[in-house]
Amino acid sequence: MLTNVDLKEYTTFGVSALAKQFATFSNEDEARALSKNNTEELLILGGGSNLLLTQDFNGLVLKNEITGIRCVEQNDTSVLLKVGAGEVWHDFVLYTIEKGYYGIENMSLIPGSVGASPMQNIGAYGVEIKDVFEKLDALEIETGEVHTFSNEACAFGYRESVFKRALKGKYIITYVYFRLSLIKNLSTHYGAIEYELNKQGITSPTSKDVSDAVIFIRSSKLPNPKDLGNAGSFFKNPIVPIETYNKIKATYQEAPSYPVSETTVKVPAGWLIETAGWKGKQMGACGVHKNQALVLVNYGDATGNEIYELSTAIIKDVNQKFGVTLEREVNII
Ligand code: FAD
Ligand code: EPU
Repeated sequence: MLTNVDLKEYTTFGVSALAKQFATFSNEDEARALSKNNTEELLILGGGSNLLLTQDFNGLVLKNEITGIRCVEQNDTSVLLKVGAGEVWHDFVLYTIEKGYYGIENMSLIPGSVGASPMQNIGAYGVEIKDVFEKLDALEIETGEVHTFSNEACAFGYRESVFKRALKGKYIITYVYFRLSLIKNLSTHYGAIEYELNKQGITSPTSKDVSDAVIFIRSSKLPNPKDLGNAGSFFKNPIVPIETYNKIKATYQEAPSYPVSETTVKVPAGWLIETAGWKGKQMGACGVHKNQALVLVNYGDATGNEIYELSTAIIKDVNQKFGVTLEREVNII
């Protein structure tokens, strides 16, 4: 157990915050031993790519380092993989592509760990974890028992799961099971992917081609946290009543939207923030990224609190201008 550990290197925002206690675990027994009789506040850490630390953490940080990828079932059409929660997500994606398993190539280059992926049902380019997720094992902190959660039990939604709501802070996810296809089954309908493949004259893409296209698109839009601290999309894309959208459209005919239900649409938060004038704006040592208004960035020595305050100012302004309340996607500690 370490004490007073600076978490700067452990999150992709790269802000300084001291953890009173810090330990790692690489199997369920270690996780159980560290968490069961602990009386401190607990923070489970994966790759730190969806966290903003706004103050020192006066408790115990447990970093998940459970590794391993095992095929636990195979039939003519699919495989079931059991994956340690501490595996790096993108490395796992590359592993599946190499093995000829289909299903997660569109989610290439998403930072973070496998264990955090079901926390908020990560997604990109038309695919979400819930599409390939079979079940997970998680250690109940209070009892030390391992429970299994089916896809349904996780209550997945858009960047949502039961672990962010009713069961928040109660479980440590230890293994995630993915059902991947052995039959070629690629999802290239997302506009930018098709455009990239066409540009390269690829008419019958492999999963590696799709992965490469996604990596190319992402690298051109999203800042690499190694160069510029960030946590990806800071806000969720809001789902609003059609009447609210129609009001926006009356002023901005070009306002984009995606259908969600008969009565609601999703409006890109990036468009709202850019149109409100925030894109590329700098406030002290943090700001709004110049290519993607949904991404807040740390130019070097911003504090978590400064970034949080910037997000509050954006929420307020977007609300005043469009009558839409943005919700933060990033977990605030
Ligand atoms: P952390 O930041 O370490 O943790 C996130 C939350 O999960 C915390 O509340 C933590 O306590 C909890 N947690 C972590 N591991 C466990 C566990 N094993 N058990 C219980 N709780 C746990 N997300 C997308 O969905 N799509 C994208 O396209 C995308 N692009 C991104 C691009 C960039 C450049 C960045 C920096 C981030 C992006 N993200 C994206 C967000 C982020 O990558 C995901 O949310 C990722 O799943 C976070 O994983 P992590 O291991 O870093 O989680
Ligand atoms: N847009 C702007 N200005 C901007 C940014 C975006 O006008 O500065 C508008 C454009 O109209 C664009 C639309 O927003 O067509 C959508 O932009 P983009 O395709 O870049 O996607 P996004 O909505 O900004 C979402 C996810 C990403 C995911 C991509 C690709 C959320 C909150 N974000 O971003 O996930 O990678 O789609 O599928 O849903 C993350 O969760 O951290 C994340 C990066």
